Amino acid sequence: MAPALTQDDWELLRSTAVEAMGRAYAPYSNFPVGVAGLADDGRLLSGCNVENASYAVGLCAECGLVSDPGAHRRWSPGRRLVRRLPRGDAHAVRPLPADPLGARRRAVPHPDTGGRALARRDPAAGLRGGRPDQGSTMTEQHDVVDIIRTKRDRGVLADDQIDWVIDAYTRGVVADEQMSALAMAILINGMTRPEIARWTAAMIASGERMDFSGPARPTSDKHSTGGVGDKITLPLAPLVAVFGIAVPQLSGRGLGHTGGTPDKLESIPGWRADLSNAQMLAQLDDVGAVICAAGAGLAPADKKLYALRDVTGTVEAIPLIASSIMSKKIAEGTGALVLDVKVGSGAFMKTREDATELARTMVDLGTDAGVNTVALITDMSVPLGLTAGNALEVRESVEVLAGGGPQDVVDLTVALADEMTRAAGKTVGPDELRAALADGRAMDVWRRMISAQGGDPDAPLPTAAETQTVVADAAGHLEHLDAMAVGMAARRPGAGRARKEDPVRAGAGVELHARPGDKVTKGQPLMTLHTDTPERFARARESLVGGWRIAPQAPARGPVVLDRITAREA
Ligand code: URA
Repeated sequence: MAPALTQDDWELLRSTAVEAMGRAYAPYSNFPVGVAGLADDGRLLSGCNVENASYAVGLCAECGLVSDPGAHRRWSPGRRLVRRLPRGDAHAVRPLPADPLGARRRAVPHPDTGGRALARRDPAAGLRGGRPDQGSTMTEQHDVVDIIRTKRDRGVLADDQIDWVIDAYTRGVVADEQMSALAMAILINGMTRPEIARWTAAMIASGERMDFSGPARPTSDKHSTGGVGDKITLPLAPLVAVFGIAVPQLSGRGLGHTGGTPDKLESIPGWRADLSNAQMLAQLDDVGAVICAAGAGLAPADKKLYALRDVTGTVEAIPLIASSIMSKKIAEGTGALVLDVKVGSGAFMKTREDATELARTMVDLGTDAGVNTVALITDMSVPLGLTAGNALEVRESVEVLAGGGPQDVVDLTVALADEMTRAAGKTVGPDELRAALADGRAMDVWRRMISAQGGDPDAPLPTAAETQTVVADAAGHLEHLDAMAVGMAARRPGAGRARKEDPVRAGAGVELHARPGDKVTKGQPLMTLHTDTPERFARARESLVGGWRIAPQAPARGPVVLDRITAREA
C-alpha cells in the first residue's frame, strides 16, 4: 500500500510539477507538460516533455521523471514510485502504475490537454515563434527573430514583445538557441529601466506569487549575490527573527565557485530544504524564520533562463542578474528586502562601478514593486570568515550564534540585521543585535528553526575523510588571499558543483588558519584542504597558485561594508 499523502505533500508535488513544466521543450505541440513523483524512499522526482522535430521520438514527461539525475539509483530493485502528479492540476492526480513507463507506452492523451491528442506542428514554425505563414497550428503574437534583431541593433523592446518572449520561452515555443542569442544581445547592448522592469514583471507572471500578509509579524528578507565563505544567512535569519520579524529565506543552490545555503544546511543530519508553501507559512508563524530551497513554482521562466545563461556566457548581464534575483524576491512576497551586493574577485561583479549599477537597478526594481529595498555593497576580494565548504561553514555559523566566530562574519551579520530590522520598521540597533548573538537568543531560534525542518541541531556534522595542509613559504605578513582561488580550492575537492545536477560533499572545503594582515612564520599552516576524494587535492592546490602573497609589511585592511544604496527620492 502506498502511504497516505498529506495536503502539504500534494502541494509540494504540485509546485514541483509546475516547475518541471517550465523546463519543457514543446515547440511542436505547444503543450508543455511537467510531472512530479514521490518515491517510496521519500525522494521527489520530476520530469518534463522534450519534443523532437521527428515527433515520434520525443520524450514524454514520465520518461523524464524516470531518468531524473540519480533516478537509476532510485530505481534499484525494491524502489517504487508511490505517487505522481502531472503538470500541477489537482484534478489530474492519479496513482502511477507500478511501471511508470507503462503510461507512456499506452500513450493516453494527457488530461491537461482536455483529452485532445497533441497536434503536430511544423518544426520551422516552432523556431520562428510560430508564424502563421509557416504552418503552425497556433498563431503566435510575435516573431522571435524580429525581437532578437531589435536588441542586436540596440533597439528598445516593446512591453508586449517582452511579455510574449518570456511566456513563449517558458512554453518551449522560443528555442534555447534563440533565447541565448537574445541574452547575448542584452549582455552587449543592455536594457532601459522600463525594459528591465517589464522583463522582471513577465518573469514573475510566469509562476506563482506568495503572500505573507497572514503572519502578524512584518517580513524582511536578505539576498546575497554570492561569494566565497558567505554563510551569513545562517546566523542572520534567526538573529532577525529574535526581534519579532518574519524572515522567509528562499535560497538557491550553489553554482560555480559560490556556495548555496540549502547545500550548507543539508550537511545537518535530517534537515530538509523542500517545504510546501503551507509548511513555510506555518514555520514562519511558529518560529519566525525559515530557510528553504526557492519554491519550485516561483518564476519558472528564471530557472530555465538562468540555466541557459550559465552555459552561454551570459550570466554577467546586469539587467538579467537584476531581473533574475528580483523576480524571485518580489514573487516571494516579502515586505522589506536587504541586498548584499558583493564586489571583488570572488563575486560576479568585479568592479565597484558594476556592483553599484547592479545594486541601483535592483533597489529601483524593488522600490517600484512596493518592496522596501536597500542594498549594501560588500567586499568579496577575500573570503568571508575562515571556512569555505558546507559542513565547515555550518560549524562556523554555529560559533557566531554562540557569541564567537570570525570578526568579519559577525560584523556583516550585524550590519545586515540592522538594515533588515530597520527596513521592517523596528528600532533595534547594532548593540542589541550583538547582545542577542552573545546571550543565546539567536541560538535558541536557530535550534527551533533547524528542528522544524527535521534537522538535529546537536548531531555531529560530517567531516571529510582526508585533509592536507598548505604552509607559508616565507615569513612575513599574509598580504593577500584571493577569494576566487579559495573558492575554487573548496569547490574542486567536492564542496561545490561543476554542473547544477552534481551532488556536493558535506565535509569538503577549505579551512583558513590565517587572514590577510596576519603575521606568519615560514612553514606555518595557512589553510587545510578537506576532501573525501584525495585524488582531487592536486587540482585544489593548482587553483591556489598565485592566490596568496606574503609581504614584509602588513597590508591596510578595509571595511567589509563599502557602500549603501537606498531608494531614490520620489
Ligand atoms: N543569482 C540569481 O538568482 N540570478 C542571477 O542571475 C545571478 C545570481
